[in-house]
Amino acid sequence: FVIIFNTVHDPLSASIGFSLLGCVITWRLVPELKENFIKINLSGKDLNKINKPVIPESMGIICATVYLICLFLFIPFPFMEWFTDKGKVITRREEFHSPTFPHHKLGEFLSAMLSLQSMVLLGFVDDLFDIRWRYKLLLPTIASIPLLMVYYVNFGETHIVLPIPLRFLFGGYIDLGYLYYLYMSLMAVFCTNSINILAGINGVEIGQSLIIAISIAINDLLFLNGSDPAVEAHLFSLYFIIPFIGVSLGLIMHNWYPSRVFVGDTYCYFAGMTFAVVGILAHFSKTMILFFLPQIFNFAYSVPQLFKLVECPRHRMPKFNPLTRKLEFSKVKLQKPLNLPTLLSLKLFSTFGLIKIMENNVNNIDKKKIIDDDKKDLDYIEVNNFTLLNLILLKFGPMNERTLTICVLIIQVLTSCLAFFIRYRLVHLFYEI
Ligand code: UD1
Ligand code: MG
Repeated sequence: FVIIFNTVHDPLSASIGFSLLGCVITWRLVPELKENFIKINLSGKDLNKINKPVIPESMGIICATVYLICLFLFIPFPFMEWFTDKGKVITRREEFHSPTFPHHKLGEFLSAMLSLQSMVLLGFVDDLFDIRWRYKLLLPTIASIPLLMVYYVNFGETHIVLPIPLRFLFGGYIDLGYLYYLYMSLMAVFCTNSINILAGINGVEIGQSLIIAISIAINDLLFLNGSDPAVEAHLFSLYFIIPFIGVSLGLIMHNWYPSRVFVGDTYCYFAGMTFAVVGILAHFSKTMILFFLPQIFNFAYSVPQLFKLVECPRHRMPKFNPLTRKLEFSKVKLQKPLNLPTLLSLKLFSTFGLIKIMENNVNNIDKKKIIDDDKKDLDYIEVNNFTLLNLILLKFGPMNERTLTICVLIIQVLTSCLAFFIRYRLVHLFYEI
């Protein structure tokens, strides 16, 4: 009774309660339902195992559904003071000259949930139909529209404060106008897709998302003693992030190496959209970007392949060597003569030591015996696929799948430490905080 009484009056405790519930339900539901996914062919081969077992895919849909139900049930809690003990509350509110129900706050909640729900739906459609890469970019833009609408109505703020070193050029503030809305929808596109392309080994999609979510929660908690508007915004963020951590923990128990289930694009989109929603509506998109540094690196590194300057195979994940049972960096064959964009990309990345180019060693073969067409096919070079996972393997040598996941997670944790250092120590160099 004490717990129930406290949760009614303290939405944060309620959120933690729903998070625990979400964790347990996801953890129990996934094994219950996984056979049904296999039956309808929602499954994928675990490519980095000896016998390539077929395991259920798109389990993110279970995790996201449980999350949304938790949030639906949670909606009344932040507004409980309006439903209970109303007389007293109104008197207290009148002191702040705001005696009416905070419809704007409810609007924010509902729009955030609508965006998340749309993103989960579109992510699931992607899992079902394997949508082409260029259309994948469009999905989060569509899902972010309700969010932008509420931002426009509630805040409409499109000014940004410029960092001190840039002020001599543009002044203190700059109004980005509609570009600000473009920036916010690009943020949704980036958060979702960047998690989806830092993927392909057991546990890495949820692992990175969990570390980002925990970092966001820590950042929010640091603000709770501050001024009123910041507290409201960061409480809003916590209400979305805490249950996210819960359901993700429930799912990672089945997705950690060796995976019994795959999370699918549904989870990647769901996670990315959760981060975009809180970053935008709680106004800390710059800090959010700092938490995404590994994903930004992986995206920038991937650009030549994503934009087809260099050939991009369907899967760029590392390659499993059955003899050593370790993962090695995967390669892509580039037929000679190389075109100019490919040559420039290779030159740029090799200057920074980011790629390894391997010349074809069939020169020793007696070419006279090979007919002309075949000779052409043999004229190629190989280069590692441009992803962070392959780069780690290139620099540190082959390793097993779990070790590689742990390496990525360590990088993610170090990034968060760096992000906190920049946000709370170096920030004084850029802003008057
Ligand atoms: C993105 C990447 C692709 C990478 C794939 C892995 C880009 C442009 N696309 O594609 O290079 O190979 O993610 O998820 O960078 N799988 C495993 N083990 C895992 C996770 C996934 O073997 O731990 C395999 C399974 O066969 C699974 C498939 O990857 O069915 C899922 O790939 P999908 O999410 O559809 O690939 P994309 O997101 O399109
Ligand atoms: Mg994917």
